[in-house]
Amino acid sequence: MAESTGNKKIKTAVFISGTGSNLNNLIQFSKKKKSPIFINLIISNNPKSKGLKFAKKFNIEKKIFYFKRKTFDEKKLLKVLKDRKINLICLAGFMRILSKNFIKNFKGKILNIHPSLLPKYKGLNTHKRVLKNKEKYTGCTVHFVSPKLDSGKIIMQRKIKIKNQDTSEKIAKRVLIQEHKLYPKAILKLFNL
Ligand code: GAR
Repeated sequence: MAESTGNKKIKTAVFISGTGSNLNNLIQFSKKKKSPIFINLIISNNPKSKGLKFAKKFNIEKKIFYFKRKTFDEKKLLKVLKDRKINLICLAGFMRILSKNFIKNFKGKILNIHPSLLPKYKGLNTHKRVLKNKEKYTGCTVHFVSPKLDSGKIIMQRKIKIKNQDTSEKIAKRVLIQEHKLYPKAILKLFNL
């Protein structure tokens, strides 16, 4: 099982809602010698998340929490995380807002990747808003999760240039490439590696 190897690394849970390309990228990173993390658990609020296929592919435990009864689900989720001694949570395209109480339980141990140069363009539909405002640049940010949406301390960012013929889909693709470079770098930075 996944837990039997990498037991010196930081036990990490990745939370997803969709495609899971960042999850896949973090799994690839976790397998490298220099990686401080080991991915023990995948959490999703959506049983149809395409990213859940990586749980099967890489033999990682997965669990679904719908977050419909948020307080109840978060309580159950906290128990699952504590039972497995999870010490780091990486949100990777996770489209639910965690409560203040949940965040308090993992203070300074929840990271998120966001597709904009925070503090600009918090929330959803970032690329559409970037285009509408005729920005010259956009990018992505890895930051600590705090109770205020997309507002926790920034760990690292990467920038891309907006081109004349850009659409939000084209921007999303180029930003995602940068996200895959950024998340592992931000984790290394976090652990002074
Ligand atoms: C990524 O672009 C990520 O930054 C974004 O969702 C996408 C998930 O892609 N996250 C958010 O918008 C969080 N508010 P993925 O499922 O392929 O990793």
